[in-house]
Amino acid sequence: MLVLGIDTSCDDTSASVLKDGRVILSNIVSSQSEIHSKYGGIVPELASRRHIEMIWPVVSEALEQAETALDEIEGIAVCYGPGLIGSLLVGCCFAKAIAYAKGIPLIGVNHLEGHLLSVLLNSPAPDFPFLSLIVSGGHTSLVRVDGVGRYKELGRTRDDAAGEAYDKVAKLLGLDYPGGPVIDRLAKEGNPEAVNFPRPYLHGSYDFSFSGLKTAVRNHIQSVKDRLEEERENIAASFQRAVIDVLVKKTEIAVKKEKIKRVALSGGVAANSELRERMKEMGESLGIEVYLPPLQLCTDNAAMIALTGYLHLMRKETSDLDLTAKAVLPIGT
Ligand code: KG4
Ligand code: ZN
Repeated sequence: MLVLGIDTSCDDTSASVLKDGRVILSNIVSSQSEIHSKYGGIVPELASRRHIEMIWPVVSEALEQAETALDEIEGIAVCYGPGLIGSLLVGCCFAKAIAYAKGIPLIGVNHLEGHLLSVLLNSPAPDFPFLSLIVSGGHTSLVRVDGVGRYKELGRTRDDAAGEAYDKVAKLLGLDYPGGPVIDRLAKEGNPEAVNFPRPYLHGSYDFSFSGLKTAVRNHIQSVKDRLEEERENIAASFQRAVIDVLVKKTEIAVKKEKIKRVALSGGVAANSELRERMKEMGESLGIEVYLPPLQLCTDNAAMIALTGYLHLMRKETSDLDLTAKAVLPIGT
């Protein structure tokens, strides 16, 4: 069975063809970073306009690479939230039109559910239950996953998401957007103990908060502004160490309390080299399995949407053609 997945939730236009919920025949991602980088963040109006231009070429490329055609597609899965409303609408309208014209089932997919199930495309894939740490540009959540559709959000960010903190700190350091990969690279050349930035542990809760850390970085940058050029690597490394200390510690506490033997990472920040290394070390020291999806499945992609759509289609959970985009959409809805 071939399912076409579409994701236009943020600033990437993506389409994927997935065979039998397992084999990724194509996973095309057209990035808009170049458009937004000069503004230091995403400009929603520009994002939706670009999606309109790119949706058809990206879907065509996904079909071509999969050596198939729309007539062969048996289900169309589209991300309908959460995300930027204008961006989401492009994918939703497109998918609804195809579903209607071709008479195939439409499956609206929650972007966060896509991220947390993306690890099922791994080889080997984890068994249920597993703990999922979603760390992306818009979200930071710790979720207990007991099965498809059985999610319990243990904690989430109260302010900035981890990726958002990376992007904002990068901007303060005068680096390009998106900041995560740039800080990841720069941090390798700095001393992570150069600056003792605060670790917002929020004891007794699984929630996260990164805005205070961002403010601490801003204040520090202000205090060294005359020698920022020499300090950049150290600040990047120290900031990254603070973020990762918190992510790892909270995950470790949840593993112990929930008595879970498997942890999966997802979302753009899951591509971070230090976070991946530290999570692996945590797994070894606790004797649990840690699943790290390949980098192209960490950042936004339509293969995870196609997979989630396929799993719901198998359970006969499809959407009506009045499916509408939702900027805010909690996990499990
Ligand atoms: O999951 P994603 O592609 O989009 C959202 O759903 O938000 O995540 C994008 C975020 C951006 O904030 C980007 O800076 C961050 O992921 N990111 C990274 C790395 N690669 C991407 N953050 C840290 N290290 C990386 N290597
Ligand atoms: Zn995402």
